[in-house]
Amino acid sequence: MLLVFGSINIDLLVPVPGLPRPGETVLGGDYRLLPGGKGANQALAACRAGASVMMAGAVGKDAFAAAALCMLRRDGVDLALVRQVHRPTGCAAIMVDESGENLIAVASGANAAVTSEIVPDDMLAPQRIVLCQMEVPAAETAGLIRRAARRGARSILNLAPAVPIEPRLFDDLDLLVTNEVEAAMLGDDPAAIARRLRQAFVVTRGAAGSTAFLRDGRRLEIPVLAIDAVDTTGAGDTFVGVLAAGLDQDMALEPALRRASAAAGLACIAHGAQTAMPDAIAIDAAVARLPQ
Ligand code: RIB
Repeated sequence: MLLVFGSINIDLLVPVPGLPRPGETVLGGDYRLLPGGKGANQALAACRAGASVMMAGAVGKDAFAAAALCMLRRDGVDLALVRQVHRPTGCAAIMVDESGENLIAVASGANAAVTSEIVPDDMLAPQRIVLCQMEVPAAETAGLIRRAARRGARSILNLAPAVPIEPRLFDDLDLLVTNEVEAAMLGDDPAAIARRLRQAFVVTRGAAGSTAFLRDGRRLEIPVLAIDAVDTTGAGDTFVGVLAAGLDQDMALEPALRRASAAAGLACIAHGAQTAMPDAIAIDAAVARLPQ
């Protein structure tokens, strides 16, 4: 079973003709309230890709809590480690323009009250995979990754949003996944970062594909599907969740990355984060359409 430790949000999605500049107001189309949050999105993506998934995180005691959890619940993600706290459920204000690009601000709410103590030691058994992002307190995420390493579990960290982390944490991480902007924050030598990790550093570059820098110095270049994007929200989360699902299902890194890339492409051709995530049948059909 894959353990996802991270955020759970409700997304307030507004389609706009163009993203506003500071101080500007733009008129958009009808808004939608959709489940989101990088942790929950990655849990759902992994579950749809065929993994058995447990989510650890927090929601508020408010009307948004049930809506934020509805797709995880419907698809069968185990919510036993999701706590209800006295803070509002996390909420993301998202604007998406006509080219599919987005702009996101997150009110963390209950996510800021998540602690790593909610994860019991028996969830960190050898070979178990723990998947984390940076939308719950960084110190709690770092503490869980260190504890997982001590107990023999493998860790994947998606450094999104880009928050400074102590470089010592690299030694306990199997995989680090970032986009180009987040990677730049870590310096200009991804191969050197990969040498500190247990397996690889994966950098995603949107329509330009992704590169995995392996610990042993090799590189894997992963192509993308040819698509017309309508909304890229959650595409990165789909990539990370499907990658973790593949590794949890004992796939080798390269086929797991190709599957993740195909799934991320499919996630861009419908609106919303969780609402756009493909299932295993769609992903496997799309993998066959990826360039070699
Ligand atoms: O990665 C997309 C997600 O970022 C959204 O679902 C939003 O909730 C923010 O966390």
